[in-house]
Amino acid sequence: MNVYYSIKNIKYMRTIRQSFQVTFKYNIIFTHDIFNIKNSTLIKTLNTKNKKKIIIFIDKNVYKTNENINTKIKDYIKNNEKYINLVCDPILITGGEKIKNHYNLVKYAYKLIDVYKICRQSYVLAIGGGTLLDLIGFVASTAHRGIKLIRIPTTTLSQDDSGVGVKNGINFTNKKNFIGSFSTPYAVINDFNLLNSLKDENFIEGFSEAIKVSLIKDKKLFFLIKNNTNEILNREKKITEKIIYECAKIHAKHISKKGDPFEVKSSRPLDFGHWAAHKIESLSKYKISHGKSVAIGLALDCTYSYLLKLLKKDDWKNIITTIIKLTLPIYSKELSFIENNKNVIFNGLEEFREHLGGKLTITLIKSIGEKIETHHINKNIYEKSIKLLKKLNNTIKNANK
Ligand SMILES: NC(=O)c1ccc[n+]([C@@H]2O[C@H](COP(=O)([O-])OP(=O)(O)OC[C@H]3O[C@@H](n4cnc5c(N)ncnc54)[C@H](O)[C@@H]3O)[C@@H](O)[C@H]2O)c1
Ligand SMILES: [Zn+2]
Repeated sequence: MNVYYSIKNIKYMRTIRQSFQVTFKYNIIFTHDIFNIKNSTLIKTLNTKNKKKIIIFIDKNVYKTNENINTKIKDYIKNNEKYINLVCDPILITGGEKIKNHYNLVKYAYKLIDVYKICRQSYVLAIGGGTLLDLIGFVASTAHRGIKLIRIPTTTLSQDDSGVGVKNGINFTNKKNFIGSFSTPYAVINDFNLLNSLKDENFIEGFSEAIKVSLIKDKKLFFLIKNNTNEILNREKKITEKIIYECAKIHAKHISKKGDPFEVKSSRPLDFGHWAAHKIESLSKYKISHGKSVAIGLALDCTYSYLLKLLKKDDWKNIITTIIKLTLPIYSKELSFIENNKNVIFNGLEEFREHLGGKLTITLIKSIGEKIETHHINKNIYEKSIKLLKKLNNTIKNANK
């Protein structure tokens, strides 16, 4: 205890120093066909001897496109009724970024948790893409100060990136993830079979996060993606499942081993390409998805790294062609919006800094797999990068006519 006490100066200060450590642990499990009654992944994950209450929130598109999922869930629960008390039919929530823009859904989910008396010994199962997981994750982490959350991600993006980490959130005042929490899930179960019903464009856009993580951390993974663009486009399971697994592993390792899981410091390498991506999403009124915006944000920050003479031309070319071959965008008109003679995209830098706090810190790469951090931004070079990407994009468009 540190005590400072002085009557003479009428100063009074007492400090009780608090310090404790808590270890967080959760498994990220990979499986196929989670609700097959022969699949014990979920029941083993619950690891319970007593009957536990469960409420399920599921993406409406997952529910609609997997015709028998309702029956499968019910049969699974019935088969395990000694351990599971499903309090009501799965609650359907429409997927997509728009659900993160409305607090109404947060209130609706809180209400259900209250009505069905879901307590801290119960479980919330969230089955859906990154948007549903962010929304329900936020609800679960704040209702009763935290209910156990099992995430079952159903998009490539949520299986390889958003679903495996510790962040939850919704948007506010047209700013991404303005309201949110850092909270560890109880477990994450990636069921590859759930990806089968994804539309091609949603399937492919999740690979932008895989490119991201490979560019900052793993050259081998980048070339695995680069050399298998056709296989990815054809949704070949062997390769796509490997990439999702590797990407999730690197992501999880970064969170646990880099000593800053709750992002207290300014550096945030997993947000490579994201300062522009988040701004593109909001400028497009969320018509451009997160995955596609990340592809554009990566193209921009890699082009900037190249024009700064930090990144070699061959590396830059490999990155841009990989993004293009995967039919992901490298440019959108939001990069060139002008207001009061200023390029609006640069407001994304200040918003990014505000969200992080402290000094603006941007991740760049000096070679594939090797990141660096910078606090200095050269807007002229960024403007040149935007022009170069616009030109390249026009060339691609004309070639496809
Ligand atoms: N919390 C984090 O750390 C983190 C990290 C990265 C991204 N994110 C967030 O993730 C969100 C993007 O997630 P997303 O790319 O998964 O998009 P999404 O949740 O919007 O899903 C994309 C579309 O696919 C549909 N869908 C989902 N699974 C399906 C399936 N199996 N079959 C058929 N349709 C299905 C959804 O209804 C939606 O229309 C963004 O809001 C982004 O900010 C969060
Ligand atoms: Zn992202």
